[in-house]
Amino acid sequence: MDQRELLLERLKSRLSKARLAHSLGVEACAVEMADRFGADREKASTAGLIHDCAKELTHRQAEELGNRLGIFGDEWMKAEPKLWHAPLGAYIAGRDYGVTDPEVLGAIACHTTGKPGMSALEKIIYLADFVEPRRDFYGVEELRACARRDLDEALIMALEATIRYLLNHGRTIHPHTILARNETIAKKMVK
Ligand SMILES: [Fe+2]
Ligand SMILES: [Fe+2]
Repeated sequence: MDQRELLLERLKSRLSKARLAHSLGVEACAVEMADRFGADREKASTAGLIHDCAKELTHRQAEELGNRLGIFGDEWMKAEPKLWHAPLGAYIAGRDYGVTDPEVLGAIACHTTGKPGMSALEKIIYLADFVEPRRDFYGVEELRACARRDLDEALIMALEATIRYLLNHGRTIHPHTILARNETIAKKMVK
């Protein structure tokens, strides 16, 4: 059994069928984007496959683990439970799935918020999570098309869609999401 099969076996026993299908979709998109934009396809596969490995923890489990790991150092993380499974996922990927590659763990850790200074792999995982084939939301086709031609342009679209959604729902916006969006736009302007 190769490493991917081992990861997949473990995921199967821990994730719902729908979440597993989503994870496989993210993996396939991430590998495709890695080939297109010159990132490591093995790392894209691993990160895509297990990016949501902490998403089915109960709220209580996630809160306990988060407190133990100190992920609530910023108040915005604490305020948005939906964000927690990214840093927790990076920890669980190491603890339960034997993943040690810092680039893979980094991509899992920032897949809900983005962050300033994202690597190509981090951008790819963030985007693949948005555009995998099961995703269906207003504007997804446009975002898919953009993700086929321009990584940074697609990242800006995805970050802005997130910011708009959070604004429309009166939710907090993690500063990393805003910083990632501003930084990517600023870089494009000075090119
Ligand atoms: Fe996620
Ligand atoms: Fe996901």
